[in-house]
Amino acid sequence: MSETAKLSLPDGQSIELPVLTGSQNEKAIDISNLRTKTGHITLDPGYVNTGPCESTITYLDGEKGILQFRGYPVEELAEQSTFIEVAYLLIHGELPNKEQLGNFADRVSKHSMIHEDMKLFFEGFSQNAHPMVILSSMISSLSAYYAEASGKASIENIGINSARLIAKISTIAAFSYKKSVGQPFVYPRDELSYCENFLNMMFSVPAESYDIDPEVVRSLEVMLILHSDHEQNCSASTVRVVGSSMANVYASVASGILALWGPLHGGANQQAVQMLQQIYEDGGNISKYVEMAKNKKSKFRLMGFGHRVYKNFDPRAIIIKKVCDRLLNKLGVNDPLLEIALKLEKAALEDDFFIEKKLYPTLDFYTGIMYRAIGIPLNMFTVMFALGRVPGWIAQWKEMHGDAKQKIARPRQLYTGPNKRKYLLISERN
Ligand code: ACO
Repeated sequence: MSETAKLSLPDGQSIELPVLTGSQNEKAIDISNLRTKTGHITLDPGYVNTGPCESTITYLDGEKGILQFRGYPVEELAEQSTFIEVAYLLIHGELPNKEQLGNFADRVSKHSMIHEDMKLFFEGFSQNAHPMVILSSMISSLSAYYAEASGKASIENIGINSARLIAKISTIAAFSYKKSVGQPFVYPRDELSYCENFLNMMFSVPAESYDIDPEVVRSLEVMLILHSDHEQNCSASTVRVVGSSMANVYASVASGILALWGPLHGGANQQAVQMLQQIYEDGGNISKYVEMAKNKKSKFRLMGFGHRVYKNFDPRAIIIKKVCDRLLNKLGVNDPLLEIALKLEKAALEDDFFIEKKLYPTLDFYTGIMYRAIGIPLNMFTVMFALGRVPGWIAQWKEMHGDAKQKIARPRQLYTGPNKRKYLLISERN
């Protein structure tokens, strides 16, 4: 027999609400008929308790520090898989066999060039434009180039549209970097793997050859895998909300990119390194900044610390910390910011305020150090996050369109403004 929860309301009504159980025994009260039957809505700022969908993509237990994609622990995927393999898994639901992986990787590399006219767009942005705004605009512009991009066709042709998105975002990201440093664009090369190709487009120049370091490639693979999905976070929810209006997948992903840009979301990786730089330039006084973060009046937060769902530890942070050590050793990087980061991490982890509030370093705290070591500039950090997150956004968008229960996203509100009042002519107003 299915479980129900009984809700008694102050006006004497009561309602039995179905209780659903997820595959990991998670419980959800289905309130989809609450307003129709009782006239009440639920109030949940920040959607902290609200599940807008059922999903088979990612399982996350923030208390136990578990993260699984389609049932596979992220630790194993980070150890064994490539980013393209994980992208296939997220979008198609299963790990690919050799042939499927080969075909998918080929399809992605075959779509890595952008229309030549799009190169002109880069000319229109100011030299100071943040690469995230360039990225979002360019991804949204892709809608203009493909017949399969609009409305229903964007759902029916999700295969080709996803290959285009995954491929072209890395070319656009690398071109925007090249534009910012005044170097010529380096075109994608089909014989290179996804990560090799990205590094080549970023760092090679016509004047000299560029050696792609396998350790850098592997570190990049892991960073992208760890970023590839994170269930119903701010940007994934944005992609679903925008997509629910039948906006095409390019427009939906472009909106997700802008949501990710915010400093409380993906923008935290840039903010975290800026904060470490500030502490370093201010003489490395860790305790001063820890105290500032504890003082509510200061409004200062330790960037890269704390997470809406991880209240114990971020499993991705544990994986990336090891990869970070390996990378810095291999590259022989001696980054003073890393020393600051380690001291700050230790101080915060030993401090009662951070222990009580369950604030731990997240993935973003370490990836910034790694991007610096690879040579990726500060304002490109969130772009790197977006590159990794694209398969997750596509998977979320695709799942939503395949879900018969989904409707256009349209939350309610509790109105607390003034009641109807008399309109005053401007001459009558004080
Ligand atoms: N430094 C200092 N205090 C913090 C921090 C922090 N980094 N994070 C949370 N707190 C405090 C808050 O002041 C609050 O204190 P209070 O209970 O006395 O009011 C308490 O901890 C809870 O914080 P909330 O903001 O209510 O927690 P929420 O779950 O809504 O927010 C968030 C999570 C936004 C990530 C928050 O921890 C934060 O701002 N962190 C810094 C930014 C950051 O690193 N964001 C990246 C998140 S990961 C991602 O999106 C990719």
